[in-house]
Amino acid sequence: MAASLRLTGSLVPDGPARFDPRRDLRAVVDLLRLGFGRDLAPQDLRWLDGLSRISGASLTLQSMANGLPGAGEATGQVYYHDGQLVGNVSAFRCGRDVWVVANVVTHPAWRGQGIASRLMRLAIQDLGRRGAHQLQLQVRADNLAAQKVYASLGFWRMNSAVALRLPAHSLGRRTFQTLGAGQLLRPFHRRRDRRAVQALLDRAGELDRGGPTSQLVQALDMGVMEGLDDWMSGRRRRTMVVDSSTGPLAIGTLLNQGRIGPHRLEMAADPDWTGRVEGALLDGLLSLVATVPAQDIEAEVDARAGGPLASLLWAGFRRSRTLDRLALDL
Ligand SMILES: CC(C)(COP(=O)(O)OP(=O)(O)OC[C@H]1O[C@@H](n2cnc3c(N)ncnc32)[C@H](O)[C@@H]1OP(=O)(O)O)[C@@H](O)C(=O)NCCC(=O)NCCS
Repeated sequence: MAASLRLTGSLVPDGPARFDPRRDLRAVVDLLRLGFGRDLAPQDLRWLDGLSRISGASLTLQSMANGLPGAGEATGQVYYHDGQLVGNVSAFRCGRDVWVVANVVTHPAWRGQGIASRLMRLAIQDLGRRGAHQLQLQVRADNLAAQKVYASLGFWRMNSAVALRLPAHSLGRRTFQTLGAGQLLRPFHRRRDRRAVQALLDRAGELDRGGPTSQLVQALDMGVMEGLDDWMSGRRRRTMVVDSSTGPLAIGTLLNQGRIGPHRLEMAADPDWTGRVEGALLDGLLSLVATVPAQDIEAEVDARAGGPLASLLWAGFRRSRTLDRLALDL
């Protein structure tokens, strides 16, 4: 693996350079494998295998936007030493002036020498020039090295999300929660529900939880183009709401990413109703899983959201990690 991190000939100068997919993509894939090591989940490894087979016209940084459905324009910074790739930072536009930073990695033999900090500073300058007003990223709460890099650059913590996982072929234990009089579970209608659901997400703290990375926030903006993008990429998403005479009380999305997997599930509830409606919503979302290819289901909920978390644990989901969502305002 290490051999493919090295480029033959002097194609790049030592130090930082803007990511060039034709030159760098394969080496970046190997660096991600090496740098993230055992932190990579099986689907991450499948994604990296897929990336290393990409060639020709499809060789773009965009192909790396795994886990960021709806991501638009992409860019990145790499760092070479003596023809060897030793550092990488990628960034994806998600929304008009918000970019998500991902794939931050330094070769294990080159850590602690300021490479990640330098690449991040270059990325921040570059994205500022491209009109970014905010950068967002997710980092494990226990990743002290990365936390230190981001804190020193001025990133602040928007909040934390708990990631949970339900293995493929497990249908999840039903909560059998019954909804109250006048409440019903139904599909989300973007045009009709958008305004009320936006207010609900605001009350639930979901809007400041990291808009672009939230499938629930994305559901608000899913138009024809985004639907087409999903379809072309083999993704299907179903969003449901628990409705009542006073408006929606909870919303949940199940994103089926086809063979890339895993499915992704997110839920948020009105703070006044939390604990009383998510069970029924989760039962509804899990019943959709029976109709799609078997994959693990990864759920992500606000760490403060007791109701959604309790219903996921009841259904058989297991906590996998706590992720901090950080932002930098430019
Ligand atoms: C996180 C990572 C990218 C940092 O890369 P790096 O090039 O070593 O970072 P830098 O040298 O720029 O370090 C910046 C600061 O973090 C500190 N730091 C680096 N590694 C550290 C560690 N293991 N523990 C504590 N602090 C650490 C440095 O001392 C430096 O602080 P200082 O300026 O006060 O001295 C690297 O450890 C890595 O690739 N980790 C695995 C992949 C990963 O977790 N990526 C982040 C995903 S969100």
